[in-house]
Amino acid sequence: MTAEPHDSQLSADLARLRCSAGVKWSRFPADVLPCWIADMDLPTAPVVRDALSALVERGDFGYHFQAASAIPATFSRWMAERHGWWPNESHVRVFCDVLQAVDLALWLGTQPGDGVVLLTPVYPPFFECITGIGRRVVDCPLDPAGWRIDAARLEACIDDRTTALLLCSPHNPTGRVFTREELSAVAEVAERHDLLVISDEIWADVVFSGSHHTPFASLSGAAEARTITAAAASKTFNMAGLRCAVAHIGVSEIERRIAELPAHLLGAAGSPGAIATHIAWTEGGPWVDETIVFLEAQRDHLMARLAAELPGVGATTPEATYLAWLDLRAYDLGDDPAGWLLANAKVALGPGPDFGEHGRGFARLNFATTRALLDEAVDRIIAALEGR
Ligand SMILES: Cc1ncc(COP(=O)(O)O)c(C=O)c1O
Repeated sequence: MTAEPHDSQLSADLARLRCSAGVKWSRFPADVLPCWIADMDLPTAPVVRDALSALVERGDFGYHFQAASAIPATFSRWMAERHGWWPNESHVRVFCDVLQAVDLALWLGTQPGDGVVLLTPVYPPFFECITGIGRRVVDCPLDPAGWRIDAARLEACIDDRTTALLLCSPHNPTGRVFTREELSAVAEVAERHDLLVISDEIWADVVFSGSHHTPFASLSGAAEARTITAAAASKTFNMAGLRCAVAHIGVSEIERRIAELPAHLLGAAGSPGAIATHIAWTEGGPWVDETIVFLEAQRDHLMARLAAELPGVGATTPEATYLAWLDLRAYDLGDDPAGWLLANAKVALGPGPDFGEHGRGFARLNFATTRALLDEAVDRIIAALEGR
């Protein structure tokens, strides 16, 4: 018997993806569909692949300092073209990854015991970035009705030992693109309480039609002067394994302290990552535009299926990212519905409680996969929930 078109597409997708080297497809047994970590199931842009293939073809892996030194200017141009903010390239530094820049900013910009605000639920490693160096998480929940920032609540969360805000903008896991008004209200609170702002904008480019990312540092000169902006091409171009990121250091005192560190303490991006990032930010724009159209169609398809077939799942349509934050509390699956779905639907989602205590009863689904795989994941979730 010949397979249905859907089945043959699914088999082809699975055959291709199960050969991936990355953790997304290797952590779970072969009967599990991985929709968890934020890697896409699409190959990166052809311009990036061509640049890396040429490097491999030549066996060209010697010292290549020029690759990384070109990135600050490339990043500034990319931000100006795509987000209307032209950061001064002399304040942009290259890092191995975004969390390295976040750790460094927290380490240099806060003191042991200081409070650092997180707008929760939020990207899980942020908690460890704060507590791992003896700082305190100040948990400020987003408004669950639409995941807006409530500036009054933010202000109420701040005590006299709170010295920083670690912002994720656009927001993982809710997919919110905070508006200029919301961010301006945050900037006013930061100004009043003299907070260091670390703005992780790794998702800035994956924004769907109708929304516009506002770089926090672009709000005003005063906002820029208290902000470290971290970014990378890794989410947009699906190349997190290449390890290359940047940070714009708007805070002169932190800039000064970084300059005092031993020259090699922070390491350096490898040349494949730096070359890929440079090419992505100079020639990858058309591919990003096409990919966003694809991701937006995936998002719309997922939301339509959830609304029609699983109305008990609460999900705000993400305005950015390729992540859907699913409220499964109506199904009574306990604090960690992802654990239940892994066992019963053979679909791996991001466990809600990892995103903070307000993530209980939620799970995060990565929809940056093929249509056949997304449908298979949704079919499995529906079958498991209906068969309880
Ligand atoms: C908000 C956010 N920040 C940082 C990262 C990780 O970035 P990196 O691997 O460059 O540390 C991710 C990965 O998904 C993320 O969603």
